[in-house]
Amino acid sequence: DGNVTMRITIIGTGYVGLVTGTCLAEYGNDVLCLDVDPRKIEILKSGGIPIYEPGLEEMVKRNVEAGRLRFTTDIEESVAHGTIQFIAVGTPPDEDGSADLKYVTAAARNIGKHMTGYKVIVDKSTVPVGTADKVKAAIAEELAARDNTTSFAVVSNPEFLKEGAAVEDFMRPDRIVIGVEDDTARDLMHSIYAPFVRNHDRILYMDVRSAELTKYAANAMLATRISFMNELANLAEKLGADIEFVRKGIGSDPRIGYHFLYPGVGYGGSCFPKDVQALQRTAAEYGQNLEILNAVESVNYAQKSVLIHKIIQRYGENLKGLHFALWGLSFKPNTDDMREAPSRIVIDGLLARGATVTAYDPVAMHEAQRAIGEKTGLAYADSPKQALESADALVVVTEWKAFRSPDFDEVKTLLKQPVIFDGRNLYEPERMKAEGFEYYPIGRKQ
Ligand code: NAD
Ligand code: UGA
Repeated sequence: DGNVTMRITIIGTGYVGLVTGTCLAEYGNDVLCLDVDPRKIEILKSGGIPIYEPGLEEMVKRNVEAGRLRFTTDIEESVAHGTIQFIAVGTPPDEDGSADLKYVTAAARNIGKHMTGYKVIVDKSTVPVGTADKVKAAIAEELAARDNTTSFAVVSNPEFLKEGAAVEDFMRPDRIVIGVEDDTARDLMHSIYAPFVRNHDRILYMDVRSAELTKYAANAMLATRISFMNELANLAEKLGADIEFVRKGIGSDPRIGYHFLYPGVGYGGSCFPKDVQALQRTAAEYGQNLEILNAVESVNYAQKSVLIHKIIQRYGENLKGLHFALWGLSFKPNTDDMREAPSRIVIDGLLARGATVTAYDPVAMHEAQRAIGEKTGLAYADSPKQALESADALVVVTEWKAFRSPDFDEVKTLLKQPVIFDGRNLYEPERMKAEGFEYYPIGRKQ
């Protein structure tokens, strides 16, 4: 296998949809990506990409040139195109934190309204357990409304890619989870994914509900590790221990492992916050209280203010007249994504106490300006250096590579005082002391 190519439609051309479509085209499939946002489709049609994601633009270009990857806003064309229809639309939180399924349902209804032959509908979006049944019902209803008896299958295939490493994650997945209860659909899914894994044991087949739950379990487990480490980092500070030693000391146990043990300013992004909440809501609907996740969430909420607390401890509640340089706006490096970015809490906290802020990010400047908007006291710099000019202190929020080894002499010259609040533990406390900085990292021994 590996040479079977298929007609595939991707519904929703955002982070996940665009990466999925492009990577499937890379293996020769004939892919059509649909989006309801004409702006995104226009950008793609004119050779650009609407998001920042390393390696993606060249890959899109290559596949468009090869004629395997196309973009459209035409729903009928998109339904007609793919035997496989991936639903990769957003599932944002609604008011109570549950996943809002209106985009998923709309996509399903469109398929039901227009399909004429057998289709496999794949839920790629992160959706609560039971969603595949809802998708199935919505399609069945639309088919019934036009007296059509065409058969179809609904598959759950959650996505585990990380922003900033999306292409790599998709091309070389740790595992591919496929919840499928229909043999034809299973065979089709197998031929799509076989080229991505040398060892086919990495394709994990299961029932649909288990696949849906697996996605939330993975994100909730990772969020739990982060909150656990943040809580321990805060304790380490009080105890005079160093969380960096503790991290290495436990990560070396293969049962624990090194990944996702970095304390910081709390997890952000479009996924962990909303998925932890959505799983809590699902559990609540079934009468179960997820106590561990309640704690994970409240620890994370508090951790987003950890830098503000350190700043208040240093300067007092009233920050009037103080000016801060802020490095890093996106919720993590290698992305321009500002959703639930801890930088926003830090900026609001500083402005609310009367301080002014000049912020810099290597990639997210434009997106930050769009997401945060105009704020009195907030300015944006063109370089990390420019942000530092006549600031009373530097606040590091995102661990971009460009911030890892600054010219400390220059930093000292530009800042009014040599003070750094570091939400990502980028520098060694000893070195900082030797350089003459007042340095406030997270959970490190001073
Ligand atoms: P996104 O907001 O970047 O993209 C979603 C796209 O769907 C938008 O462009 C929107 O215009 C489009 N859309 C909405 N309704 C549509 C419709 N009816 N027909 C066609 N297009 C429609 O979202 P995303 O970050 O790609 O996330 C999509 C899903 O994947 C979410 O459920 C998310 O939780 C999950 N997920 C995201 C990531 C990630 O790193 N971003 C990783 C794994 C899973
Ligand atoms: C996360 C998961 O890692 C992906 O596997 C998943 O597919 C995705 O959510 C999703 O479901 O959409 P992502 O949100 O892109 O991916 O970013 P991560 O790298 O997981 O980082 C999430 C947040 O946790 C960031 O704010 C990051 O700074 C923080 N983090 C991460 C820590 O504070 N410490 C760590 O050790 C790791």
